[in-house]
Amino acid sequence: MGDDILYFELNTGAKIPSMGLGTWQSSPGLVADAVTAAITVGYRHIDCAQVYGNEKEIGSALKKLFEDGVVKREDLFITSKLWNTDHAPEDVPKALERTLGDLQLDYVDLYLIHWPVRMKKGSVGFKPENLDQLDIPGTWSAMEALYDAGKAKAIGVSNFSTKKLRDMLDVACVPPAVNQVECHPSWRQDKLHALCRSKGVHLSAYSPLGSPGTTWIKSDVLQNPIVNMVAEKLGKTPAQVALRWGLQMGHSVFPKSTNESRIKENLDVFGWSIPEDLFAKFGEIEQARLLRGTSFVHDTYGPYRTLEDFWDGEL
Ligand code: A2P
Repeated sequence: MGDDILYFELNTGAKIPSMGLGTWQSSPGLVADAVTAAITVGYRHIDCAQVYGNEKEIGSALKKLFEDGVVKREDLFITSKLWNTDHAPEDVPKALERTLGDLQLDYVDLYLIHWPVRMKKGSVGFKPENLDQLDIPGTWSAMEALYDAGKAKAIGVSNFSTKKLRDMLDVACVPPAVNQVECHPSWRQDKLHALCRSKGVHLSAYSPLGSPGTTWIKSDVLQNPIVNMVAEKLGKTPAQVALRWGLQMGHSVFPKSTNESRIKENLDVFGWSIPEDLFAKFGEIEQARLLRGTSFVHDTYGPYRTLEDFWDGEL
């Protein structure tokens, strides 16, 4: 493996920095400091979403970093995501305008459909009766218009199964540049990865550490014996090994942290690599999806009756 995997090239020709900062569950009050610390130590990719409820604070931090000359807009890669309540084609540009207003930016580098799930316009929370019928081709046409207008330099999807991505590729005029999905050593996404590779769609990995801070899931990626054995052999932390594994698999990764020393620790994944014999060991790790999207499945409301339907069997 080469020693540095700093960027991946998207099907638009743009480069996505391989390592970024995740901001899901980064509370307002902490996220500005986290973004500032990350960009100051060299991160160039921030993964945001309207539903995280912290884009305004991220926008203020970015503005200050630009004013202070720490970084230039064109050197950053900013991702955001369309929430489920804004899938109606006429709502898509409004949602992006809201995000751009909050982030205080003129464009995002990547805009994703957050979930293959539609919820009633204006509805709040995850009540089953908020679930609505989907029209991904209609929503995607509106995303394509944002791409054509230059408001989103690349467009893509998130949480799409292999089947959903294939269906989407069949109807898209602008093919998605990225599918951002849960991916870490305990959920490798082998099938999706193969499709992405064959179609030139970049796979971005969320929860690359297995989301250890999420109380409602049973996450043990950082305790996994193989990850720990490799970490010990290489003199790295389990988190660094999980991230480096993602990079060597060809995924961009964005660990969330609001802790400065962990933000630095997570960036130390360049200039070394997991050798082939140890890399092969990851193939032995038992696989399980951690983030299952149970709130999007209901026996009356919305299009998905079971988790099997929702993930098209990839569970
Ligand atoms: P914190 O924000 O206190 O650092 P993921 O990106 O997979 O969803 O994981 C995010 C979780 O992992 C957060 O709870 C974060 O906590 C924690 N975390 C981030 N970096 C590390 C690290 N290097 N070692 C251990 N835990 C980490």
